[in-house]
Amino acid sequence: MIRPRAIARWAVQHGLVRLVAQRAAKTGDLQATSLIDLAHRADPYPLYERVRARGRLVPGRLGHVTVDHALVSEVLRSEDFRAGSNEDAAPGPLATIARWSREPRALGPIDPPSLLVIEPPDHTRYRRLVSKVFTARAVEALRPRVQVLAHELLDQLDGRAEVELVDAYASRLPVTVISEILGVRPQDQEMLLSYGREGAPSLDVGLSWRQYKRVDTAARGFQSWLGGHLEQLRRHPGDDLLSQLVHLEDDGQRLDDTELRAVAGLVLAAGFETTVNLLGSGTVLLLGHPEQSSRLRDDPALWPTAVEEVLRYESPVQVTARFALRETVLAERTVPKGGLVVTMLGGANRDPKVFEHPDHFDVGRVNARDHLAFSAGRHFCLGAALARLEGEVGLRTLIDRFPDLALAPGAARTTTRVLRGWERLPVRPGA
Ligand code: HEM
Repeated sequence: MIRPRAIARWAVQHGLVRLVAQRAAKTGDLQATSLIDLAHRADPYPLYERVRARGRLVPGRLGHVTVDHALVSEVLRSEDFRAGSNEDAAPGPLATIARWSREPRALGPIDPPSLLVIEPPDHTRYRRLVSKVFTARAVEALRPRVQVLAHELLDQLDGRAEVELVDAYASRLPVTVISEILGVRPQDQEMLLSYGREGAPSLDVGLSWRQYKRVDTAARGFQSWLGGHLEQLRRHPGDDLLSQLVHLEDDGQRLDDTELRAVAGLVLAAGFETTVNLLGSGTVLLLGHPEQSSRLRDDPALWPTAVEEVLRYESPVQVTARFALRETVLAERTVPKGGLVVTMLGGANRDPKVFEHPDHFDVGRVNARDHLAFSAGRHFCLGAALARLEGEVGLRTLIDRFPDLALAPGAARTTTRVLRGWERLPVRPGA
């Protein structure tokens, strides 16, 4: 079915950007190249180095781009920039179309009022409602349960000649954990995984209409499921986070239906779509660097640092961006009001000014935790403590239980630009 609003939404969010990027890429514009040239996605690091060679802040047709660690950190923490383009405040026909085309039934992770693209005071209000469940202390209490789940999932690898690890483990562990936190029934998890897979490109900009249609269909399916799930919790509340949000007393805190869907949808999707990539990339890195796995066997206290190093070396979220709230001078260049600055987290995490021998994978790197894989400032990842816990328990249990684990042929990377990881990872568990 052709949906006029969906076409309009694609045109303003992707079609125009795509058109400009295609032209700009031909003139050597690196940001545009990174948007539309699929070739560098398997290995984006040479492109980041080309950006670095051009300067701390590199102008382009669509905005500025940076891989400079200090500058990325400054922009993400700055009061002069906002996340999301603030469609509501923008003047002109494009903004009118953007507002008209926004549909609550097809809300995606970068559509307002998603936490990712809104700012205080709403951002502060929503974030406060969900953050106490994800504090380091609350998350640490989940460790024994995450450990049990990891073992249960890995039991199924015992005695098998070959297993596809993303499906069997790297995606199952995070989806089960976040489902338990949010009161999602086990029988719904398969469907969530499939919406997650189909919807993953929704963070990318410049999608083709064909890609966008698939993402839009997944968003509608997910929102329809979420509506039913929230209704179920309204009638039969549990002691999970979403039941608490649904039943907030009306003291000015209560979320309306769209706000509730946005908060719940983002926490749920972000809760597994990123951690799957931490587990997938971590496995490939550890198997590809047996000397580093041996260090971890000899000195298990290194595990938390090893997880930080995986996050730095293969950041599951490679890119984010900010818009200038006012004309701002940055690295001796002027960014106009409304101007875009693309902060390449994956590039900042290979900045030689901060990380010695940045292309070397080192599970004992003393400053590995200085990476920006979880962003910085107001939008710093709400689930960082949970992701760290799942990364540590998930990778350690896998490597300890299967010392002969080996990659098998047929591995495939994700093809998304923002999210980087593995779609398929066939492995041989060994004895
Ligand atoms: C390795 C795993 C993860 C990575 C690399 C990651 C990365 C990120 C990044 C980079 C951002 C900020 C984007 C920006 O500044 O524009 C973010 C925000 C967020 N993350 Fe994560 N994340 C991970 C896991 C999780 C988990 C497990 C949850 C579940 C609770 C979660 C929930 C969120 C939420 C709700 C936000 C929005 C925060 C805000 O805008 O205030 N993330 N994440």
